Amino acid sequence: MSKTTYLLTGGAGFIGSALALRVARTRPEVRLVVLDALTYAGHLENLAEMREGPSYRFVRGDICDREFIDALFKEEGITQVLHLAAESHVDRSILGAEAFVRTNVLGTQALLDASRAAQVQRFVHVSTDEVYGALTPTDPPFTEATPLDPTSPYAASKASSDLLALAAAKTHHLDVVVTRCSNNYGPRQLPEKLIPLMTLNALEGKKLPVYGDGQQVRDWIHVEDHARGILLALDRGQSGRVYNLGGECEKPNLWIVSQILAATGRGPDLIEHVKDRPAHDRRYAMGIERARSELGFSPEVPFEQGLRETVEWYRTHRDWCDAVRTENYKSHIDRWYGQTARSA
Ligand code: NAD
Ligand code: TYD
Repeated sequence: MSKTTYLLTGGAGFIGSALALRVARTRPEVRLVVLDALTYAGHLENLAEMREGPSYRFVRGDICDREFIDALFKEEGITQVLHLAAESHVDRSILGAEAFVRTNVLGTQALLDASRAAQVQRFVHVSTDEVYGALTPTDPPFTEATPLDPTSPYAASKASSDLLALAAAKTHHLDVVVTRCSNNYGPRQLPEKLIPLMTLNALEGKKLPVYGDGQQVRDWIHVEDHARGILLALDRGQSGRVYNLGGECEKPNLWIVSQILAATGRGPDLIEHVKDRPAHDRRYAMGIERARSELGFSPEVPFEQGLRETVEWYRTHRDWCDAVRTENYKSHIDRWYGQTARSA
């Protein structure tokens, strides 16, 4: 099997599905194998537009299962890996970190080992700005040289996997590129994250739970810009190198919430300030000069347009919203907002 074959892990999740659809749309010559365990965060509905056939196959499986992964690499003749599978929600990692260590740390190591054994040509590890920790309001943005100083168990598990990927490059000469991206938004994001949660609550006339004073700042990037950046890193990134990706769009949470209220025709009476997240990072900001100069990357979707379209997507995809709000989802929401976030 000599054809270029990508293994995309986490492809039934938010960013993974956007990337899978982009690969299918823009790289018809590539064979795509999507691997996903279909945890509470993975939904086949996200890949409904994809048609299984010679160019695309979906496989349900766990990245921690080394025997299964080895067999998959062999059977499919994987040539490149785009690794996105992860436990991805900070609040869940505060309630319990074990699944984060298992998938993000052990699962990534299993995938790195399998990739080395299979002699894949490139391994793109999708990491996050959260590995850098928090900035003060006046600090300069993170660069790739900023020391890693993660705060939450989620961020610490991602920092571990990020460093393990770089260690595989240094020690074993595996061709690894690491991307670190800021907060994504767009269609098909599970409504446990800020923008889709606030959007659905506003559409349904429910309270919008803002943690603390709501002045925490995030850098927002549209998921399509992130997906494009990952493919640029795959094509043009230097082996062993890290690339920051971001939207150059720093906004306080309360401002985001006010935009969502405006887009849904609701008033500020829906805002409810709840107990702050423990050790809540105050600000993230990304310096993306390296990605701009070496990859030719820059964000293209203006935030106001992207947010408007995202709110519209949620308004017109109520079946999807109902399908992803599973028992697991509801019990997390009840536990977090009922006991952790709301209680003083
Ligand atoms: P997501 O939670 O929507 O999707 C994660 C996917 O991984 C799900 O489909 C899930 O079923 C799958 N998965 C989880 N454990 C697995 C396992 N053991 N084996 C196989 N599949 C498994 O997450 P997302 O927001 O799409 O994030 C994707 C990646 O991008 C993650 O690595 C995340 O850390 C990174 N990232 C996310 C953001 C963001 O803002 N969402 C920003 C920067 C980086
Ligand atoms: P989130 O979407 O969970 O992403 P991350 O924690 O990875 O940045 O949260 C984005 C910001 O929104 C973060 O500062 C926490 C805040 N937030 C709220 O104020 N209320 C909420 O209900 C949620 C989910 C997040």
